[in-house]
Amino acid sequence: MKTILTGIKPTGRAHLGNYVGAIKPAIALSEQEGVKSLYFIADYHALNAVQDPKLMKTYTYEMAATWIALGLDPDRSILYRQSDIPEITELSHILSCITPKSFMNKSHAYKSAVDKNLAAKVDVNAGVNMGLYAYPILMAADILLFGTDTVPVGRDQIQHVEMARDIAENFNRKFGETLTLPTYQVSEGTLVLPGLDGRKMSKSYNNTIAIFEEPTSLLKLIKKIKTDSKTPEDPKDPNDSTLFALFREFASEEEIKELGKRFQTGVGYGEVKQSVFQVVERRLQPAREIYLELLHNTEKIDKILQDGAIEARKIAASKLAEVKRKIGM
Ligand code: ADP
Ligand code: TRP
Repeated sequence: MKTILTGIKPTGRAHLGNYVGAIKPAIALSEQEGVKSLYFIADYHALNAVQDPKLMKTYTYEMAATWIALGLDPDRSILYRQSDIPEITELSHILSCITPKSFMNKSHAYKSAVDKNLAAKVDVNAGVNMGLYAYPILMAADILLFGTDTVPVGRDQIQHVEMARDIAENFNRKFGETLTLPTYQVSEGTLVLPGLDGRKMSKSYNNTIAIFEEPTSLLKLIKKIKTDSKTPEDPKDPNDSTLFALFREFASEEEIKELGKRFQTGVGYGEVKQSVFQVVERRLQPAREIYLELLHNTEKIDKILQDGAIEARKIAASKLAEVKRKIGM
């Protein structure tokens, strides 16, 4: 049995880029045979940035509801909230005591905060809290506590998984074979989905389409996607089109081929936008109903997360006991 695990930060409403690049491939992985999958809401990681208790609660529910609505099956996978597993923060402290400070300076979450400060000519430590600095240690604890073999992540998280591996090796060298060395998995095929303005769709660029946008506003946003000034008769390159990139993620092979041909022979962007809306809506409409239903009955989400925490803590407690034995506690 192979263990896969990934964390999702509750920092805002998930968008179509998150769906295509992270949620869809991670759910597909959990459906494979011979795989034990763990998914968690990384609320302690979000705490670096989200320090409004109401928002923290809302984002946590929204993120859990998003994953469940899109097909994460709590009977097949373990879904939990990071802060419900105290063993994680306990292991995090143990790992921090064997990790040199100099090792943490290279973490890019921290480095990019420092670079921003340097560029803005303000104090290098401005806005940097200890949670951000130690972020990769907490992430290593998330991963190592569950004997994780594979961590599906976006490209930006590769370094953190490599650091978890280094920390595990360091622990094993000191105290004997205890922690499984994890590897990352980046889904090669998935593209970076462009946003409304053609840049990468990202919360940081304010160019996103939320996954569970209401149909009228979904259509409005799709109509806003930037296109060039070609006329309907002009041949167009489907590989150079944000609209086509979006269409491809939601349409069938047949539909992709068909629209691809029409890009070459002639089609107006207004019509393409309607087609994009139809395929996106077709996929997301049933999920949206489940999502809204869950958000109106948050006790259902609580129950799923609590059941998940019970399962997760069984694994966590046994690994933590082994770690503590090894260090003489
Ligand atoms: P954001 O850039 O909106 O803050 P995150 O950094 O929280 O998004 O990303 C969460 C996950 O979604 C990561 O695994 C990331 O690789 C993936 N992701 C984010 N934006 C896109 C995109 N435009 N296309 C594909 N995957 C994306
Ligand atoms: N750092 C990840 C992100 O920003 C979230 C995360 C926290 C995570 N702990 C994890 C991902 C453990 C994979 C495994 O997206």
